[in-house]
Amino acid sequence: MGARLPSSLTVLAACLIVVSSLCAFPQAAGANATPKHTGVTRHYKFEIKLKNVTRLCHTKSVVAVNGKFPGPRVVAREGDRLVVKVVNLVPYNITIHWHGIRQLRSGWADGPAYITQCPIQTGQTYVYNFTIVGQRGTLFWHAHFSWLRASVYGPLIILPRRNESYPFVKPYKEVPILFGEWWNANTEAVISQALQTGAGPNVSDAYTLNGLPGPLYNCTQKNETFRLKVKPGKTYLLRLINAALNDELFFRIANHTFTVVEADAIYVKPFETDLLVIAPGQTTNILLKTKDHFPNASFYMLARPYFTGQGTFDNTTIAGILEYQNPSNPSTNNTNSTPITPTLPAINATSAVTNFTTKIRSLNSAKFPAKVPQTVQKNFFFTIGLGSNPCPKNQTCQGPNNRTKFAASINNISFALPSTALLQSYFFRKSNGVYATDFPKFPLHPFNYTGTPPNNTNVINGTTKVEVLPFNTSVEIVLQGTSILGAESHPLHLHGYNFYVVGQGFGNFDPKKDPANYNLVDPPERNTIGVPTGSWVAIRFLADNPGVWLMHCHFDVHLSWGLRMSWIVQDGSLPNQKLPPPPSDLPKC
Ligand code: C2O
Repeated sequence: MGARLPSSLTVLAACLIVVSSLCAFPQAAGANATPKHTGVTRHYKFEIKLKNVTRLCHTKSVVAVNGKFPGPRVVAREGDRLVVKVVNLVPYNITIHWHGIRQLRSGWADGPAYITQCPIQTGQTYVYNFTIVGQRGTLFWHAHFSWLRASVYGPLIILPRRNESYPFVKPYKEVPILFGEWWNANTEAVISQALQTGAGPNVSDAYTLNGLPGPLYNCTQKNETFRLKVKPGKTYLLRLINAALNDELFFRIANHTFTVVEADAIYVKPFETDLLVIAPGQTTNILLKTKDHFPNASFYMLARPYFTGQGTFDNTTIAGILEYQNPSNPSTNNTNSTPITPTLPAINATSAVTNFTTKIRSLNSAKFPAKVPQTVQKNFFFTIGLGSNPCPKNQTCQGPNNRTKFAASINNISFALPSTALLQSYFFRKSNGVYATDFPKFPLHPFNYTGTPPNNTNVINGTTKVEVLPFNTSVEIVLQGTSILGAESHPLHLHGYNFYVVGQGFGNFDPKKDPANYNLVDPPERNTIGVPTGSWVAIRFLADNPGVWLMHCHFDVHLSWGLRMSWIVQDGSLPNQKLPPPPSDLPKC
């Protein structure tokens, strides 16, 4: 890493014309990239190709970007424009989503298939073009079509503007740490088979840390363990990203604590902890201060899931190794000693999750204020959870009760993807037959959400329904988990926005009592919030970004089952409050 990006406008212009390797290849843009001007344009090219990858003695062909698994890092600074040319050379449709990027008036570049764009078909190209406004920190990019993000994902690192620094000690080194999930089988076959039979999909065979499963699995090869090599007495910034498909993770480093300084690319009030919880779609920056003296030992960094549902899940443990360099003898290290092991909370330790998440507070400094909507113009109450669909005639199903199919819903609506993209239909006023605007604001049939579930667990399918918001509406959504077919946690992700998590509690939300306890001063600001098992979470945001925005559970299995919905945020009256027309290369369905 560390190649300098073009530092003068002249070089930049030349670079734009010839697309020199410096500009065209992500490898050139290192975490230490130091452009002299803010607001530069950074060009990347993503070639989506099949690649053979071997893990745990299984070789399979995965969909990968530029022959890399996990994918290349994308690095930019706040204020920069990113131009990413995606070329699809695989026999699948694909899109790329820039998870957590606000996409202010650039919704055409957001990426979810059939929401903001038709997929990029085999042999086709699409250029994602967007500017990073008012954001800095760790995010990630991933495929947003079916389950392709299983192998198509990578870090998206936004450094502060050139003349600005972090609101914490300058780290000696920065290291992205991506959690992922590995199936020995083809993941597209896994999900299509599950949707066919109605059963829960086969769970992953391993978790990965920067693509590597680590030594606690059968058949791990020597080079399949991630080693974090550190020096004593230094501060490391670890950029943690949960890119796993279906699992929230606990993470701990033996004999070390760390300081959480950022979540979902928002600075938080720093706090020290020895346990981290991270849901799919979430990112967290931590400062790891290494021991002052060479400890003559190495330390496991472990992660394993938090899970409370009824189904099966991958209950394996991923391990990486924290290794100290011996300052008096740098050529030797302690690779061969057995690392010290931390203990992780029980798999279903909801209290450990809440303990951690309630520590997160926005930094809320003069420079980075928390702009929490103090009043609400539109309230929504969304139940989120599982459900079922009847088995089609002449078919056997293996879902709930062995005669139905698994489904998932918001307010009992299992969101059906349209066959053309919502944003295009909306923008060109061709919504007829594509979507209806009557998504329910409240459950149509209220019940005791976290109590004994109703006998009828069928969800409503069919038409695509959306919720429409006038520009600049202040919105509150209460996300209420249900116990239907087993209470589970759900990491809810909203596209196009960050939201403030103003309240949370167990059981059913009480509209009379609970709002009195909201934090409207320094609540966490996020793009993905884990709604723990049998609980509710209240979020607020200001609808100041026109476009069509998907909101969904970031467990791909629940997403596939329909736990998703879309918002249409209308244009404002001023020219800079309107969504511009689409780029000419926008894919067609
Ligand atoms: Cu990271 Cu719609 O997803």
